[in-house]
Amino acid sequence: MIETVPYEDAVDLLDADHKAVKAMFIKFNGLCDDGASAQDRQEVAEKICKELTVHAQIEEEIFYPAARRALHEEEGKELLDEAAVEHQTLKDLVGRLESAPTDDPLYDAGVKVLSEYVKHHVREEENELFPKVKSSGLDLADLGSKLEARKSQLAGRARRTSRNGSGGRRNRRESASADDKRTSH
Ligand SMILES: [Fe+2]
Ligand SMILES: [Fe+2]
Repeated sequence: MIETVPYEDAVDLLDADHKAVKAMFIKFNGLCDDGASAQDRQEVAEKICKELTVHAQIEEEIFYPAARRALHEEEGKELLDEAAVEHQTLKDLVGRLESAPTDDPLYDAGVKVLSEYVKHHVREEENELFPKVKSSGLDLADLGSKLEARKSQLAGRARRTSRNGSGGRRNRRESASADDKRTSH
């Protein structure tokens, strides 16, 4: 389940999201080290993917455009353009994990690559983008409320999708049998 954490403003909320995802990656690595079952590892990885998807969406819809306006185009252009490209790669990695069969031998490696990539992206946001936005005069408390409202909406939708089972992954046998049905008539 995607947690909604207490926050003071937009940057605080995004920082809290970063910490939550970092903690989930640490949990995933711990499960790998302890030889936990594939099901347990994948359950954590699926939560990571959901959290990252919601986080990227609220940044793209609300935070990045506000930051672009507040930083008067030139100052933030390079950072925000790079962030947009990095989000695309993050979403590709998440999409690969979400559609991977449950017995994919590269699944754990995919989570580790995602973890490294997220670490790099978060470092740039926290060390370069957030300080610039903080000193730009942007109303971060108001922006934080908008981010929180959108996050709750998207997290609710993600929960409903998981409950309906449409977000679940299939093992190879199930995939093959579903494909057979699709091609048999
Ligand atoms: Fe981001
Ligand atoms: Fe972020």
